[in-house]
Amino acid sequence: MRKIVIAGNWKMFKTQVESKEFLQGFLPTLEDTPSNREVVLCVPFTDLSILSNSLHGSRIQLGAQNIHWEKSGAYTGEISGAMLQEIGIRYVIVGHSERRQYFGETDETVNLRLKAAQNYGLTPILCVGETKQQRDAGETESLITTQVKTALVGVDQNNLVIAYEPIWAIGTGDTCEAKEANRVIGLIRSLLTNSNVSIQYGGSVKPDNVDEIMAQPEIDGALVGGASLEPASFARIVNYKVN
Ligand code: PGA
Repeated sequence: MRKIVIAGNWKMFKTQVESKEFLQGFLPTLEDTPSNREVVLCVPFTDLSILSNSLHGSRIQLGAQNIHWEKSGAYTGEISGAMLQEIGIRYVIVGHSERRQYFGETDETVNLRLKAAQNYGLTPILCVGETKQQRDAGETESLITTQVKTALVGVDQNNLVIAYEPIWAIGTGDTCEAKEANRVIGLIRSLLTNSNVSIQYGGSVKPDNVDEIMAQPEIDGALVGGASLEPASFARIVNYKVN
């Protein structure tokens, strides 16, 4: 059975005070959320431990936005699986396009980080996606295939979420058409040995397009940036409507 996973990616937004304010507004909106929807917040490192204390007993799972592959060591600015595991973190975003673009993440380092996450019992959310230029050049399928295949060498597909995030749709308001997202996600699924991996769509998911996106048969959830920062809009996304 494929699980529905709706995850917020706060990126580098929200201090501890702001994250607690968000929770006050957001938690009550989950009362009627169907229990088969996994709700995840991937927040900055400084927010993780404070939220982990306040979320005890709630249905929200916490996720980090990065993980290093070594247990410990001289890696300034990085964080280890043991550090995340100790405070009850369940998910971690790996290979987000912003990490690839600004911080030199490659398919090879993505692969190392995926395996590290699994070694510590975390579920990695592997992000893949093409640029506008690659799409226009007809390279979407080959690029996605390479990203998925290289990233997944030696990775356990029983503990994995994938997010298809076309880069041109991230933070631009320019959502990928739901049917097209469905098609690419179908392609990603065809590359997997486990057809039960949950595959999300990400890129300008908003309250007004989430119902159509989630109605697509291949799409198992959403990875949400901007619209996850405000309790009412993330609540509407988590509580998407099924026809
Ligand atoms: P967006 O970001 O929803 O603001 O487009 C999505 C993401 O980067 O994961």
